[in-house]
Formats: sequence, structure tokens, C-alpha cells
Amino acid sequence: MSEERIPLAGVIGCPISHSRSPILHGHWLKRYGIKGHYIPMHVEPDNLERVLRTMPEMGFVGCNITIPHKVSALEIADMVSDRASLIGAANTLIFRADGKIQADNTDGYGFMANLRQKAPDWDPTTGPALVLGAGGASRAILTAMLDAGTPEILLTNRTRTNSDALRDEFGARIRVVEWVHAGAAMGECDTVINTTSLGMKGANEFKVPTKQLRSGTLVTDIVYNPLRTKLLNEAEQMGCVTVDGLGMLLHQAVPGFERWFGTRPEVDDELRAVVLG
Ligand code: ATR
Repeated sequence: MSEERIPLAGVIGCPISHSRSPILHGHWLKRYGIKGHYIPMHVEPDNLERVLRTMPEMGFVGCNITIPHKVSALEIADMVSDRASLIGAANTLIFRADGKIQADNTDGYGFMANLRQKAPDWDPTTGPALVLGAGGASRAILTAMLDAGTPEILLTNRTRTNSDALRDEFGARIRVVEWVHAGAAMGECDTVINTTSLGMKGANEFKVPTKQLRSGTLVTDIVYNPLRTKLLNEAEQMGCVTVDGLGMLLHQAVPGFERWFGTRPEVDDELRAVVLG
């Protein structure tokens, strides 16, 4: 008699102990009464491909990928979604029944879903929007905003060559603004997005001046530790609509969970409280 196989998923990173994903997926598994497990895995870069190719035999249906493996995972995958290809990195893998590894990137989806839930009146098709930062998170957010129809994006970054490179890649709707003019650019925009690590616990303070923000502007931060960043507190005082970054982390996990375990999970206040611990 063949034994029922319990589906396994997990998250691969190096290091991995800081990841909140096991708490998040563990909560959903329990809440929906799903027989399954979600496991954190520390994998060194040299071992990534071998581990990924072995996982399906062990009962894994897929996994999340985090730092530093997001670009390598995309290269290893046999099939890549359009959005993962545009972003140039994978955060979600699906191990298909035919043995192929399918790569996706749900960071941009998570960003948009968080804003749609927390600021339902926000309209991405009004612009311009200001994006601070030109790293991996910025790539995902630019892809999502351009796809949603944002007419113009002002992009500003400490290292100008990095923002210029993104403008060259993503095209005409992006205008690069010097980092020293980031504060002034806030006054021109309907949406302001911090994708840098500034303001995160243990990182440098967010020092961009916010006094030119207009009341009613949507201001959001990808930093969620602390939940209320200096940028969000100052923006709130200026009469802006503010959305913290925790929801992006929670929503980016939804498509993977649904693919692996067959239930589309909810992002709600109970989940937020569980993940914040
Ligand atoms: P992620 O994948 O989370 O986006 P990343 O690729 O390392 O991380 O990008 C970090 C972003 O934060 C970059 O835009 C970086 O600016 P640089 O391109 O100049 O490195 C920005 N950043 C990090 N520390 C910063 C600081 N002290 N001042 C301004 N920007 C900073």
C-alpha cells in the first residue's frame, strides 16, 4: 500500500535563521488544517543546484529563495516567469511533476497587493512616483509599477550609476534624479517609495528631508523593522497616507503557498501579529 506523501516546502538562504517565512507559512498550514511542512534550510552557494535537484525526490513541492541565492536560482531553473525574468531574480520555485524547476518572483506582486489592501483609494496610474534605491527590491517594484501603468517614475539612488543602469534597462518612463535632490522630488510626486535599507534597525538613519511632501501623497517603506519608520512617521505628520512594509513580505508569500498547498491564504491582522511575534 502506498503511503500518502505529505507535501514539503521551505526557504533556502545563507544565513537563514532570521527568516520570518517559516512562521508565516507555519501559521497558514495550521490555520487551514493542511497536512504539510515548511522548513528553513541553510544551503551554501556551491551546493544550491545539487540541493534543488534533490529536493523533489524528498517530497518537496517547491521553496522560497532568499539572500544570497535569488539570482543563481533563476539561472538554475528550467522555466522562468516573465516577471522573474524582468526582475532578474527568483524568490519562489515550483518543482513540477515533470521534474522541471519553475522560477517566479512575487516581490512586485507583494508590493502592489499590500498597497491595494492598505490604501484601496491609491491609484498607481496617477503619477509621477518617486522610488528611492536601485537594488534588488527596487527592480521588483519598478517592474510592478510600470506594469500597473504608472506614467512616470523618478528614480533616485546614492550611487548614480546604479539608477542610470535601471533607467537604461527599464526605459523611457523612468527619469533619474540626483540623490541630493530626493527631498525636493518628494514634493513633485503622488507616491513615494523607499526601497533602500535606510531606517532599518541596525542600518543607517533615513536622512532624506521630507518637508516638501504634499498632504495626500501615498508614502510606503519596504523596511518593516521597525514597523513605523522615521520616513513613515514624518510623512504622517505631513498629512500623507502611509503604508508599512510588513504587508509586502506577507503578500509575496501568497502565490507560493497557493501553488504548493492548493489553498489561497489570507493576509490579515492575525497573521501580522503572529509574524511580528
Ligand atoms: P535589496 O535587494 O534589498 O534592494 P540591495 O540590492 O543591496 O538590497 O540595495 C540596497 C539599496 O539601498 C541600494 O539602492 C543602495 O544604494 P547604492 O546603490 O548606492 O548602494 C541603498 N543604500 C544602502 N545603504 C545606503 C545608504 N547608507 N545611503 C543611501 N542608500 C543606501
